[in-house]
Amino acid sequence: MRNGEKTASVLFYDWVPSYNKDMQSWQWVSPQKIFTAIRPHMHGNETILDLGIGTGLLSSLFKKHTGAHVTGIDACEKMLRKCRKTAAADRLVKGDFDRQALPFLSGEFDAVVCSGALEFVGNILFLSREIARVTRQDGLVALTYQLAERNDIEEQDTESSYLMRAHSHVYMRQQLEEAGIEVLEQQDFDGYRPEWSDGRPVRYGLTLGRVS
Ligand SMILES: C[S@@+](CC[C@H](N)C(=O)[O-])C[C@H]1O[C@@H](n2cnc3c(N)ncnc32)[C@H](O)[C@@H]1O
Repeated sequence: MRNGEKTASVLFYDWVPSYNKDMQSWQWVSPQKIFTAIRPHMHGNETILDLGIGTGLLSSLFKKHTGAHVTGIDACEKMLRKCRKTAAADRLVKGDFDRQALPFLSGEFDAVVCSGALEFVGNILFLSREIARVTRQDGLVALTYQLAERNDIEEQDTESSYLMRAHSHVYMRQQLEEAGIEVLEQQDFDGYRPEWSDGRPVRYGLTLGRVS
């Protein structure tokens, strides 16, 4: 973390009350994209880890449409409090996964998903290795990330002094493969349309992989 950079928990704290409403009006489609990509590969009763579960927008799809057992982790206690009030997860854990080991057993999950949190992670390789460790062999991984169009990593300092990172497909593939996750599919999509962008979409990427 750089000097003055805010942690995810501080950043998201103030956003919690309006998060779901904002995401709806910004047409945030990342949770649905992950669900649609991974669902055909699932039996329906998997154990799933949702990294950066937030208010549970992604996990609620698994709970609603499958018999999955969902564990969510998030650094922001207030997000977790809001998520606890929904039926989005069976277990919620407070924790920061940027450069810190995941507080889970090796091979504990059939699948790991992460929607819109890699923007706040400084070391993708470290996290990829942790994802590979906690996922069983042949288990699935589905991640979305703001898409870098020109470089492997593009960093944006925002007005409120937190850093957001975008990643290219090539970079994500390299990091995941180095961690032992075989890439099955990559796709691009319009992630969201915030009001300050005059309706222009923020491009997102999705990688679906399998732990080899
Ligand atoms: C943009 S929200 C996405 C929430 C949800 N996955 C969704 O798609 O709506 C990012 C979430 O990731 C969490 N987060 C970001 N960086 C994190 C980190 N390093 N460790 C744990 N949680 C983190 C934030 O607290 C926030 O709840």
